Amino acid sequence: MSATPPAPVPRHIAIIMDGNGRWAQQRGWPRIKGHEAGAESVQAVVRACRDAGVEYLTLYAFSVENWRRPREEISGLMRLLEHFLDRNEDELHENEIRLRVIGRLADLPKLIQRRLAKTSAATADYHRGNLILALSYGGRAELVDAMRGIAGKVAAGELKPDAIDEATVAAHLYAPDVPDPDLMVRTSGELRLSNFLLWQLSYAEWYVTDVLWPDFREADLHAAIDAYGRRKRRYGAVS
Ligand code: FPP
Repeated sequence: MSATPPAPVPRHIAIIMDGNGRWAQQRGWPRIKGHEAGAESVQAVVRACRDAGVEYLTLYAFSVENWRRPREEISGLMRLLEHFLDRNEDELHENEIRLRVIGRLADLPKLIQRRLAKTSAATADYHRGNLILALSYGGRAELVDAMRGIAGKVAAGELKPDAIDEATVAAHLYAPDVPDPDLMVRTSGELRLSNFLLWQLSYAEWYVTDVLWPDFREADLHAAIDAYGRRKRRYGAVS
């Protein structure tokens, strides 16, 4: 009897953490309570990814569009982020997980920028896992920023327009050395990409669950990984 090979684990999972507001609303609580519970899910999922052997986890924590939310919700989210870093920095070190941030970081409050820079620098040499937070992030904004970088090199005579190819664009993204996500998870049942990793998700498998983000825990992550393991990835070819 031949043994069945183990199902593949995605090397990189990207998650749209949606449904915090609805979770709070269902309980008659303020939206920030949903974000607080969502931060608990972040901690649980980071641990579950570490245990499952997922090398990269990218979380859509704050989009460029989220700046349109009420001021108190924005400041509440920034406080939660700071609190999350305070509570989890030791664990990042213990598990040799590198913290990275992608997005228009200059838009974030200075205090948060400094806090993120400090933890990113302190964990920069770790290779066992990567936690990537997308903050003030937009997929279109990232492509605009990449195009600005490329145009600057063309204007300086360092690059010829004909030489620009997909690798050139990929090299000008916020985290060019990070492999594209294999699996994109979205919670709360919405079937939208919402301006997340537009370039990088071209060939990702999607997994959408009705579970709201504050309820998403280890078992839900395992369900997503199992579903991924059953997919046949063809990249446009015939299998
Ligand atoms: C979407 O739910 C969620 C967000 C905009 C913020 C995500 C933030 C966290 C999970 C907590 C803090 C993050 C970290 C990294 C510690 P929504 O508010 O749009 O939900 P709704 O669609 O039900 O209103």
